[in-house]
Amino acid sequence: MTRLGVNIDHVATLRQARRGKNPNPVEAALVSERAGCDGIVAHLREDRRHIQEQDLWDLKKALRVPLNMEMSASPQIVRVAARVKPDQATLVPEKRQELTTEGGLDLRKGQKRLKQAVSQLKKAGIRVSLFIDPDPVQIRLARDLEVPMIELHTGRYAGAPTRKRREILLRQMEEAVGKARALGLIVAAGHGLDYDNVVEVVSIPEIEELNIGFSIVARAVEAGFHQAVQEMAGLVHGGGR
Ligand code: PXP
Repeated sequence: MTRLGVNIDHVATLRQARRGKNPNPVEAALVSERAGCDGIVAHLREDRRHIQEQDLWDLKKALRVPLNMEMSASPQIVRVAARVKPDQATLVPEKRQELTTEGGLDLRKGQKRLKQAVSQLKKAGIRVSLFIDPDPVQIRLARDLEVPMIELHTGRYAGAPTRKRREILLRQMEEAVGKARALGLIVAAGHGLDYDNVVEVVSIPEIEELNIGFSIVARAVEAGFHQAVQEMAGLVHGGGR
């Protein structure tokens, strides 16, 4: 069965809008656990726009399922990871101006920094995964970096403008997964997956794990809105909660 990692970054995005305590990403992680997820993903960005370092410590303490920390290869963030010791670290590219991770790592560039990050994370006992595009060159380079696992970027598949294009990108994904498995890599995938496009990705059996965030948080807001208003209306109208 494919594992589901729930990315809780955008619960923290909402909290940071008021810099308060709510909504609490750790609470969202515990609800996710009870609802049947297999892991929690949190991205400590260099600009700290959503997840904060304290969230990682709190998640590490509270969770029973594994914690996957998404992060850049920046030495400062690597030092945080080595202290917190999540079960897994997924290295992603990070640009300050981007709204979200826009593509996979280009493993042809910045090899020295990447090698250093991989080695320090491994030394801290953390499993390392690299977020890359479903491209044979990147997959071979990931194997050369001696990581056990990769996460394939599904953003282009998810954003395909037509059904035909989406099918082509799905076939490419399938081929990439086959290549990675042949090189002995464990394969995860994620980015942009939602309730409409996830099932076709699940049908690729060698993908062991899908990491999904935004669509789950958006659905939680939509599905929970009725109850939230009803409770407040009860208080405002004087009938109680
Ligand atoms: N996997 C990686 C490596 C990511 O960077 C992200 C976004 O933080 C996700 C999965 C989840 O993407 P989304 O929020 O679009 O589901």
